[in-house]
Amino acid sequence: MSVSASAEYEALRAHHALVRDVRMVDLFAAEPERFARWHLRAGPLLLDFSKHRATEETLRLLMALARARGVEGRIRAMFAGERINASEDRAVLHVALRRSEDGPFPSGSFDVMNDVRRVRGRVAAFAEAVRAGTLRGATGAAFTDVVNIGIGGSDLGPKMVVRALAPYASPRLRSHFVSNVDPSDLSGVLAGLVPERTLFLVASKTFTTQETMANAEAARRWLRSHLPAGADLGAHFAAASTNEAAVVAFGIDPARMFGFWDWVGGRYSLWSAVGASIVLAVGAENFTRLLSGAEAIDRHLLDAPLTRNAPVIMAMLGVWYQNFFGAQTHAILPYDQTLEHFAAYFQQGDMESNGKSVTSAGTPVNVDTGAVVWGGVGTNAQHAFFQLLHQGTRLVPADFLAAARSHAPLGHQHEMLFANYLAQTQALMRGRSAAEVRAAHPDASEALVAARTFEGNRPSTSILYPLLTPEVVGALVALYEHKIFVQGVVWGINSFDQWGVELGKELASSIVPLLIGGGEGVGLDGSTRGLIAAFRAMRDSGPGAAVAGEDESGDERGGG
Ligand code: F6P
Repeated sequence: MSVSASAEYEALRAHHALVRDVRMVDLFAAEPERFARWHLRAGPLLLDFSKHRATEETLRLLMALARARGVEGRIRAMFAGERINASEDRAVLHVALRRSEDGPFPSGSFDVMNDVRRVRGRVAAFAEAVRAGTLRGATGAAFTDVVNIGIGGSDLGPKMVVRALAPYASPRLRSHFVSNVDPSDLSGVLAGLVPERTLFLVASKTFTTQETMANAEAARRWLRSHLPAGADLGAHFAAASTNEAAVVAFGIDPARMFGFWDWVGGRYSLWSAVGASIVLAVGAENFTRLLSGAEAIDRHLLDAPLTRNAPVIMAMLGVWYQNFFGAQTHAILPYDQTLEHFAAYFQQGDMESNGKSVTSAGTPVNVDTGAVVWGGVGTNAQHAFFQLLHQGTRLVPADFLAAARSHAPLGHQHEMLFANYLAQTQALMRGRSAAEVRAAHPDASEALVAARTFEGNRPSTSILYPLLTPEVVGALVALYEHKIFVQGVVWGINSFDQWGVELGKELASSIVPLLIGGGEGVGLDGSTRGLIAAFRAMRDSGPGAAVAGEDESGDERGGG
């Protein structure tokens, strides 16, 4: 049954009609201790849900919907290793990757833990040898730079975590991330690197992704053209993949391949061998701490009652705003500079997971599903897009994330940062009435009064943690992962496939030969044909014409 046909959904619709105009400031006035009842702790995180357009009854009805949609059963099914990714006929077991307990998981007959522990150990040994300088490049030089080549989940997760854990990173080993097939991405990184001291980690679940393979091949050509003739290029590569045959065909020794499995979704893979670039940057011990933070949230998801369950509450408040208030987007706003890639990471995490319009049964979902997820770091974002959050016509529910302590204190700047975090959620909630504006500016024209009035009543979740440690980063990621899963269950969609990205990939593969080799392209539409002709004309006649196309010499730029 579609979610909107359920009695619980209907009850929420009726409830929404009653409470949609309730103002949060009035909820606080009626219940000054609202914070005490609406905040909770999950692992190292404190979450404050009090600044939401929700009453106790709202929460009760949202949880009734979650229960009716089978959220508790689906959570158990995921942890039991059932093939809940039905369209790909796969289990979904990224939670296994952060398990610390001994013994089989998810069951005695389907135990993945031996494989998980074996690969964890191999990645740790490899990374620690590189970090210690005992595992070296072809000329005997120790590595100073690691370049992760991957895209999507094989890039965004490790890149986000490595940046978040910058205070824990080895100063002797710099991390770089190359993802785009745009040649300026790889060239820009290589330009600053010394080939004999550079290690490439090719991260790709499938090891067939066009962008990643093109960049990996270009990296190999760069090494070949800069290292002494006959040097062992393999000493400069490692791979994280599920596809051993393709890794070997590329020329990477299986001893330097770190495997993972089809039950790890790409956007849930930072916990697997795809996290090797994290281990290289911060060391195996800190990676274990990252896993333990996620594991704490896994336990919370399993053990906490729904009404005290952080990912479930986040998910259901999302449903409340997307489906009943008609919100279209959701903002993620860390007041934490080193979380600058967090929103981009969960843009993939959420939009690739829940950007679906049919249910797992193949029927249309007749409500809105995944929100458009976006964001940026505070306070920068305040001076960029917060205007729309405060006075735009749209309702944008937002998450505000911040630490109580800074890794790099400078005077009172951290207190200034946190004051802004508090001020923004307060301003979004309270707004400023026309009467207040008139009182402060008695001579203001009515137009100016209108321009300076804030409607307020804009909801936010505040997430607070002591310090951005590996445990906290792990907990934050697991929190959002589970939120996304719970929403998918409520909407009845499969959050673990991503068929929507395939069509564009197929079309691009058929167009590439036309751009490199020529030809008309059978069956192309007029627009695509016209643009191909214009591209060829510009490429072949402009000032850059001499360097257009593939550089057959294999002499990539940069290095030395
Ligand atoms: O195109 C989408 C996608 O399949 C993502 O789901 C994935 O994270 C990314 O491409 C990279 O895939 P791979 O790790 O197989 O190179």
